[in-house]
Amino acid sequence: MARRRQIFEGKGKDIFEGPEPGTIVQHFKDDVSVHSGAKTGMITGKGVINNRISEHLMTRLSEVGIPTHFIRRLNMREQLIREVEIIPISVVVRNVVAGSLATRFGLEEGRRLDRSIVEFYYNSDDLKDPMVLEEHITAFGWASHQEIDEIIALSLRVNDFLYGLFVGIGIRLVDFKLEFGRVWEHDQLRILVADEISPDTCRLWDADTDEKLDLDRFREDLDGIEEAYQEVARRLGILPEGGVTDLEIPTIGAVRNISES
Ligand code: TMP
Repeated sequence: MARRRQIFEGKGKDIFEGPEPGTIVQHFKDDVSVHSGAKTGMITGKGVINNRISEHLMTRLSEVGIPTHFIRRLNMREQLIREVEIIPISVVVRNVVAGSLATRFGLEEGRRLDRSIVEFYYNSDDLKDPMVLEEHITAFGWASHQEIDEIIALSLRVNDFLYGLFVGIGIRLVDFKLEFGRVWEHDQLRILVADEISPDTCRLWDADTDEKLDLDRFREDLDGIEEAYQEVARRLGILPEGGVTDLEIPTIGAVRNISES
């Protein structure tokens, strides 16, 4: 069988040509890269768990009428998604002060925001993903005003839905990042939620203890990263009865190569 064509090699995912026109295969890896590539490493089994978590959350979103690129999971590390024209913007929705919001304004982490904040960042590794305004997005032709309105409305709907879903399993959705793409459907351009939704792209804190159950454990050199990702999957009810071994991943904690530059 011919080798499939790789379209893109990312930090946490690789993208391959899909089996049918208009489809793409998204392959989730254990690799991790944070602080604009200044710290890299591996979280054993992360790709398998993120593939499952993203499948689960995208499926729940489409059940409530939020369009996503997800079609179906193919295997432990891969899912079939719709080919979209990616809008080069990351949208961050924040419910609680943390991360770069805390740093930028000198605020203490953990304060609940009176209303959620939506921020835009331009996706560029070279420029370290600068924060941008709606004016930049339209002036540089990355998206129209109408598309931005749609993106904000979808982001807030995703936030409302996921916030409630996570409250139900004892997790505080502090903030998260979304990406969006465009597809032509019945002669109309439609905006879809793309990329992934997982502990790599969300801040998830235990509701009782504020324990971090996401990639911040790696950013902040905390131990128990693999266990934190599994805990999120377990609470979502998608970790098999037999535990992680049923997910066919290597022994937890066996490999972790962390190189800092
Ligand atoms: P920040 O506080 O570092 O700006 O991050 C906000 C949210 O966006 C947080 O949930 C983590 C997520 N995020 C990504 O998914 N990818 C990134 O490259 C960065 C910087 C943040």
